[in-house]
Amino acid sequence: MKRILVTGGCGFIGSNFIRDQLTRYPEQEVVNVDKLTYAGNPANLSDIENDPRYRFLQGDICDRAFMERALSGSPVDAVVHFAAESHVDRSILDSGPFVETNIVGTQVLLDVCRAAEISRYVQVSTDEVYGSLGDEGFFTEETPLAPNSPYSASKAAADMLVRSYFHTFGFPAVITRCSNNYGPYQFPEKLLPLFISNAINDQSLPVYGTGENVRDWIHVLDHCRGIDAALRRGKVGEVYNFGGETELRNIDLTRTLLELLGKPESLIQFVRDRPGHDLRYAIDCSKARSELDWSPEVEFRHGLEETIEWYQTQTAWIQNIKSGEYRSYYAAQYKDRLQTQGDTE
Ligand code: NAD
Ligand code: DAU
Repeated sequence: MKRILVTGGCGFIGSNFIRDQLTRYPEQEVVNVDKLTYAGNPANLSDIENDPRYRFLQGDICDRAFMERALSGSPVDAVVHFAAESHVDRSILDSGPFVETNIVGTQVLLDVCRAAEISRYVQVSTDEVYGSLGDEGFFTEETPLAPNSPYSASKAAADMLVRSYFHTFGFPAVITRCSNNYGPYQFPEKLLPLFISNAINDQSLPVYGTGENVRDWIHVLDHCRGIDAALRRGKVGEVYNFGGETELRNIDLTRTLLELLGKPESLIQFVRDRPGHDLRYAIDCSKARSELDWSPEVEFRHGLEETIEWYQTQTAWIQNIKSGEYRSYYAAQYKDRLQTQGDTE
């Protein structure tokens, strides 16, 4: 696999994946296609931008002519598709960009990849396509899809398109579905980087509802190893689940963060819940263990301490983001949640 094309490589997981690939495989060449939306940040890859094995192309996966040029200009063996609108709260405010990028963009990408006869395609999907669990049980690859947010519905639709291209055309695709990632370079609208940066600045931490929702946390580099395994050893037509086997209630995670940062629990502020908020995600990753010889390796508390340290030292990185478009989004979102929290509690 001499050259791979990654979409969305300037985002959180994509940038970690590209860095990991170039470190892991000295001969690997990577082409990164990214539109640079609010979530795409070239600074996430500033340390490798002059590596001769790396090439960046700014563009939209929905632009068929651009994607055809991207694939023919530098023929690639495989495509790893990360590019997406990825934030559930934003999909509740406006589902349009989610349908456009996550569904239409995936369809365009599948068509151009098929025409280019690539040998392997990885669809990076999410455990949220399975919906929500009660107090017990786990998502397996056989769990029926039951997405609950516009974000997860758009991801499930994309997964179904990928599935159909495998069945109809023999397109060499695998699908991966992962739980909540944490680690460096995550955009600070998501729970962990938002709460860490707020706490560092003695600002309140807006916990949705009662904070009893459960997420399964996995270090981003464990996810990247899983995608690498699916890319190189996965069987086409198959789905692989990845998770960190670390289930935590949001409120417990928040308290742990405050303890590690040496900040008071009075920073916790319960705010209006996310509409349609999924209660619990938990992943059964035994298929990835047995068929890909993969398992999560980063111990959660150790990974969390390292992640906190990273955000503590990356104040310029965070300030650059917080002074852009994100500033007005967060102000509006937070104001609305605080004003109306009494309505739903
Ligand atoms: P992110 O929001 O940090 O990054 C998304 C990237 O895609 C950005 O660089 C953005 O500029 C780019 N992009 C968006 N629209 C584009 C378009 N039309 N054309 C080209 N580029 C475009 O997202 P992330 O958290 O790194 O997630 C990456 C992928 O992994 C997504 O598909 C997401 O659904 C999936 N996933 C994320 C998690 C998680 O916990 N973050 C867990 C499981 C799966
Ligand atoms: O499970 C995988 C998914 O994890 C990915 O597919 C998504 O792209 C990714 O964004 C993430 O989705 P979540 O909605 O679980 O992540 P988020 O960080 O937005 O929220 C995590 C939990 O914390 C969730 O229960 C909502 C809650 N929350 C979130 C924010 C931003 C709060 O209580 N307060 C907040 O301010």
